[in-house]
Amino acid sequence: MTEDYAARLGRQPSAFVQTFGCQMNARDSEKLLGVLLEAGFEEGRDEKADLVVINTCTVRENANERLYGHLGHLNSMKREHPAKLIALCGCMMQEADEVERIRRTYPFVDMVFGTHNLYRFPALLAERLEQGKRVFEVWDAPREMVEDLPKKREVPWKSGVNISFGCDNFCTYCIVPYVRGRERSRRPADILEEVERLAADGVIEIMLLGQNVNSYGKGLEHPISFARLLEQICAVPGIQRVRFMTSHPKDLSDELIAVIRDNEKICRHLHLPLQSGSSRILKAMNRRYDKEAYLSLVERIRAQVPDISLTTDIIVGFPGETEEDFRETLDVVRRIRFDSAFTFIYSPRTGTPAAAMPDQVDPAVVKERFARLLDLVQKIGAEQSGRDVGKTMPALVEALDPQVPGRVTGRLGNNVMVHFPGEEGLIGTIVDVKLEEVHGFYYIGVAANRPHPSRP
Ligand code: 5AD
Ligand code: SF4
Repeated sequence: MTEDYAARLGRQPSAFVQTFGCQMNARDSEKLLGVLLEAGFEEGRDEKADLVVINTCTVRENANERLYGHLGHLNSMKREHPAKLIALCGCMMQEADEVERIRRTYPFVDMVFGTHNLYRFPALLAERLEQGKRVFEVWDAPREMVEDLPKKREVPWKSGVNISFGCDNFCTYCIVPYVRGRERSRRPADILEEVERLAADGVIEIMLLGQNVNSYGKGLEHPISFARLLEQICAVPGIQRVRFMTSHPKDLSDELIAVIRDNEKICRHLHLPLQSGSSRILKAMNRRYDKEAYLSLVERIRAQVPDISLTTDIIVGFPGETEEDFRETLDVVRRIRFDSAFTFIYSPRTGTPAAAMPDQVDPAVVKERFARLLDLVQKIGAEQSGRDVGKTMPALVEALDPQVPGRVTGRLGNNVMVHFPGEEGLIGTIVDVKLEEVHGFYYIGVAANRPHPSRP
């Protein structure tokens, strides 16, 4: 498909896929790159590539602003290199107003497609290359689930695996249900087959992906729970670590807690978005749990899996949030002591119920609350870090330590990094590491089954 383009350039064309947003987008980008490599592109290293695909995010307004800033930069690059192609896809392209703006004001954008027709990318690309016209194709809703797109993994030893797409929760601030559509679960047999194939290809760590993994399985011909699926994934030979994301507190079952407890392959890390600590605000957010339910859920989890690391998402400045509501959030943060928390300033998204609510909070007040929350979250995070000094824990080695020659960097099950003496050959393997010291948010350690470098 790329022959004419290659002839025009006088060389093999290169392609670069840039991802904004979440893990779901990161996985989609691996599919985009897989398609491009199959179509005859070489993998480019940066935006200087001949074809740049931007997989966009729209969860908060600043994601949109970032894209427009970026487009200006790409436009100037295209002036220098007129054969350059620019494609946009992902969540932001599901918003009709944004697509219209791109169509009118950004004529140098060659292709636009959305989240539901990602699998049409090869056909759309062929259309662009063969007909030379701009190609815009966005669907309002998903039409079919396509299982067999090629994928190019970022690293050989770990991979995301989609288990469901879309979201049915309609939290009142969130645009995801509108841009990703209704929740659809993949069939367990398809998921297992993909995991088996990945394991055969050398993958040892799997991250199961869904907007709300805990509600997995609804609507399947033979419904199964997320907990049962997780057990089946853990049983795949070769898979040594399993993670999942994201959990909704309202759907996190005791069955799942027991499966985590009983299965060593499941990483001791749970990302459990709180969003707010105020029951009144949680109700207005349509989260369908209250402060007490969240606290008691965490208590049940910790009773069964005491060494679990907990992280969260919190929104500050949801419409109607009072100082008292905000203090409820601080209270939950103090009581739970999250290992880390992603904190966000509420961003009104067109078309969501919250954007039309009265009592939008004064930005100066939000800014001040955000700073107080960040302070607290960081203080607690710092106190929490280092709690495993002295323990020996498995780390998946990801890279050579760029700072210190002769050292490698690994990731613990709870996502914390550890640096320890080691060589390149360890990359992609799991090593037991004794955690000796903590420096800020990472550990320094030594491989447990090897002689200590300073004590030969
Ligand atoms: N404003 C601010 N934060 C948001 N999030 C989702 N929608 C919004 C919004 N409109 C946050 C939530 C979610 C995370 C992925 O992004 O905390 O868990
Ligand atoms: Fe958005 Fe709520 Fe669905 Fe998460 S659960 S994607 S916050 S609507």
